[in-house]
Amino acid sequence: MSDEKTELEGPDLARGVALSTLVDGAMLLGHVQSEAVILVRRGAELFAIGATCTHYNGPLAEGLLVDDTVRCPWHHACFSLRTGEALRAPALNPVSCWRVEQRDGSAFVREKRARAPRRSAAAPGMPRSVVIVGGGAAGNAAAEMLRREGYAGRLTMLSADESPPYDRPNLSKNYLAGSAPEDWIALRSPGFYREHDIDLQLGVRVAAIDTRSRQVETADGGRHAYDALLLATGAEPLRLTLPGGDLPHVHYLRSFADSRALVAAVLAAKQAVVIGASFIGLEVAASLRARNIAVRVVGREACPMEKILGTEVGNFLRRLHEEHGVIFHLGTTPTAIDARSVTLANGEQIPADLVVIGVGVRPAIALAEQAGLAVDRGVTVDEYLETSVPGIFAAGDIARWPDELTGERIRVEHWVVAERQGQTAARNIMGRRERFDAVPFFWTEQYDFGLAYVGHAERFDTAEIDGRLDARDCTITFRRGDRKLAIAVVHRDLEGLKAEVEFEWAIASNLQSAAASAKPSMQT
Ligand SMILES: Cc1cc2nc3c(=O)[nH]c(=O)nc-3n(C[C@H](O)[C@H](O)[C@H](O)COP(=O)(O)OP(=O)(O)OC[C@H]3O[C@@H](n4cnc5c(N)ncnc54)[C@H](O)[C@@H]3O)c2cc1C
Ligand code: FES
Repeated sequence: MSDEKTELEGPDLARGVALSTLVDGAMLLGHVQSEAVILVRRGAELFAIGATCTHYNGPLAEGLLVDDTVRCPWHHACFSLRTGEALRAPALNPVSCWRVEQRDGSAFVREKRARAPRRSAAAPGMPRSVVIVGGGAAGNAAAEMLRREGYAGRLTMLSADESPPYDRPNLSKNYLAGSAPEDWIALRSPGFYREHDIDLQLGVRVAAIDTRSRQVETADGGRHAYDALLLATGAEPLRLTLPGGDLPHVHYLRSFADSRALVAAVLAAKQAVVIGASFIGLEVAASLRARNIAVRVVGREACPMEKILGTEVGNFLRRLHEEHGVIFHLGTTPTAIDARSVTLANGEQIPADLVVIGVGVRPAIALAEQAGLAVDRGVTVDEYLETSVPGIFAAGDIARWPDELTGERIRVEHWVVAERQGQTAARNIMGRRERFDAVPFFWTEQYDFGLAYVGHAERFDTAEIDGRLDARDCTITFRRGDRKLAIAVVHRDLEGLKAEVEFEWAIASNLQSAAASAKPSMQT
């Protein structure tokens, strides 16, 4: 992640570029005044949009053109070349869009185009009121998309969290490491929800859903009627029950409040034990090392992340952490915690004045169960993200949906998936009947190492590495039998984007829809 603006490179596009030098289907990075801009030629059409992704400032010129869109190389946000609109999360804001004039064999980037005003999408059958339960990735993305698409009815978002929607992935990374200030964490400014007429109610826990009267009941006895309901309650950390597990220096990490409490504890800590050697545990370990705290990681597995990323990547991650001074205690579990140490099942006693537990999460499906919705290790939804009760949708960490790529029902715990599901659910609440067919994507950052993963391989037979992991330049392909299920890339962003498009083609052809299976053109 970087908060630096893309440096101004390339020609001044306002002064004109010879059309003969513009390669069809390629991006030219230049600038207009002080803003980085990409100029794109597609056949007879010319487009100019801002070159800096509105998520974390990724360089769009290094991304992938797919039809009349460009995808960001870092976390795969997608922008329209025609309007600059952020078509797919994780970017939520558009980039600027410029008018291009062709004259005397040259292209000139002129003034910025004004944004089209929001149109109200009132129509018969549109719900008069929507209630969203959950103010996380999926809930927030859904609320924003409803308004962006012109939904004009009553919109209420009830969140048990005391903080307005925030960038949860950052909590174990830059924020915990001390390199991201507090004001980076909120997804929106305080006035945003008011301006968009979203009634965001914080610290409000929904306790029950009455599907017959179409009302939700909050823990404090409040009632909210809905025509359409979105459940986006996310997941809760698994708690370890062991002696000392509730001591004040033992932390879990899910919410902004958790992360703040951890940051406060870190200031006084010298020796941390992280229990759990998966994403959260390893990201926390890296962030604590950035603060110069001694870190030991305890994990049940013999090789960290092996189940998700394979043995070679797992061993690489272990070495990476060891090079940064982390000590691993693998193949064992904690049996007790006291004020100064953690006792392990293998008899070892390791020093700790701070303990962070990250041993997985469970989807928060109690509400759905209470309401009698179909559940199966998550809330069961169809391809439109609608639950077994019409008018009630579910998105994010709780949703188990039919994945068109594998033909299986899957549930994943990824930020981008949750946001994209929220966006799709919003459009379906408005009656669009849009399938959720996005390819799962996640990323992790540990020290200066980053990995992006596209697809979904809950189980795989082989993890084949092309390139060199130690040189941090490789693609890892996960296969079950001879079927490619997912890839992970290290410093090969474009390959990650191309894989996403390939998986989309596979989904489209699985759906056997003539329109959907027409391959879009893809150019770098
Ligand atoms: C520290 C951390 C780092 C992560 N890093 C990454 C990463 O790098 N990449 C990645 O892809 N994913 C990452 N994830 C996972 C990602 O954040 C989740 O997949 C994503 O937040 C799920 O979105 P969601 O909307 O389903 O749930 P959440 O974002 O968890 O939101 C759920 C919301 O529902 C509210 N809620 C729950 N029950 C109720 C109720 N009964 N009434 C009212 N409100 C309720 C909660 O308070 C919360 O606001 C990370 C997660 C954590 C915790
Ligand atoms: S920086 Fe572009 S998607 Fe994250």
